Amino acid sequence: MRTTYLGDLEVSRIGLGAMGMSGSYGAVTDEAESIRTIHRALDLGVTLLDTAEVYGPYHNEELIGRAIKDRREQVVLATKFGFISHTGRAQGSLDSSPASIRIAVEGSLARLGTDHIDLYYQHRVDATVPVEDTWGAMSELVGAGKVRYLGISEAAPATVRRAHAVHPIAAGQYEYSLFSREPEDDLLPVLDELGIGLVSYSPLGRGLLTGSLDASGGFGQGDFRNVAPRFQGENYDHNLAMTARVAEVAQDKGVTPAQLAIAWVLAQGDDIVAIPGTKRRKYLEQNVAAADVVLSPEDLIALGKAVPRDAIAGERYPAAFMAHIGL
Ligand SMILES: NC(=O)c1ccc[n+]([C@@H]2O[C@H](COP(=O)([O-])OP(=O)(O)OC[C@H]3O[C@@H](n4cnc5c(N)ncnc54)[C@H](OP(=O)(O)O)[C@@H]3O)[C@@H](O)[C@H]2O)c1
Repeated sequence: MRTTYLGDLEVSRIGLGAMGMSGSYGAVTDEAESIRTIHRALDLGVTLLDTAEVYGPYHNEELIGRAIKDRREQVVLATKFGFISHTGRAQGSLDSSPASIRIAVEGSLARLGTDHIDLYYQHRVDATVPVEDTWGAMSELVGAGKVRYLGISEAAPATVRRAHAVHPIAAGQYEYSLFSREPEDDLLPVLDELGIGLVSYSPLGRGLLTGSLDASGGFGQGDFRNVAPRFQGENYDHNLAMTARVAEVAQDKGVTPAQLAIAWVLAQGDDIVAIPGTKRRKYLEQNVAAADVVLSPEDLIALGKAVPRDAIAGERYPAAFMAHIGL
């Protein structure tokens, strides 16, 4: 597996997103398979494992902690705080106050069964707390040896600059895929200028780009896609039609649609890392093999025709979640 650097932190170019192992895309019925998937990822040279306090909540960090118990040194462990308040704010409120962070980190360390987190992200910017205060507290965690590197997610470019001025940001984690190209507008140039790596989350468009979603729609109970605008009604029909065109390009290339989607992300820059999510070894193995898929200029043109920029229908999140994006 090829590696790259997020700031000074060396990671595999393809990581493993663990969120779906705690139910975001329907019930998880086979936890043992999730753990086998994590082990297989490490066997294949994946080092970056991505979780968050809020996934589950808490279940995902506990699962990772159990899975890596005897393999901690092989892992670049990334987790996030900010969606859960530890200072008594109402449920569902963001909380990036220094007091909440100091409690959050202890919980994450305990659940992950480790004495340090390799990459600690602010999951969303909290408009009620100056980002300088948040990053001051995060920087103290680095000073205390609890955290090695810091990251930010879905923050506006101006906020990235302010946070970076307090403590160097190693990684910005943003939704970035053939279907979500907004970071190209104002963000990528700022990350480049500041030497911050991009971690592309949902590189498979939450499954849409894999060509394996059922056109009849309707996801299982608790599946986030039941409320995500791009998976509803006419939006979904329109987006599935584009997915079918991606599948045709993939077939011509002799790869799977998921591999094509991941290879496209990696082709956008040497310091871009993709963290496709899966809870199954068979998908994991397929996704990891995308690291060896080289896209020619002709492939990129064909993909550009199959999925014109901004042709996707529907927002990424429901309105209440979109309100937390780009602050
Ligand atoms: N920073 C943030 O705010 C944020 C937000 C969302 C996600 N993330 C992180 O990013 C990671 C990845 O994103 P994601 O999980 O949302 O979406 P994703 O990687 O775009 O897609 C995951 C979906 O695709 C399916 N899948 C994976 N590989 C496949 C393959 N080869 N063939 C067919 N289907 C395949 C998975 O199925 P199975 O689950 O059945 O395996 C799952 O339903 C998450 O796990 C999380 O760590 C971060």
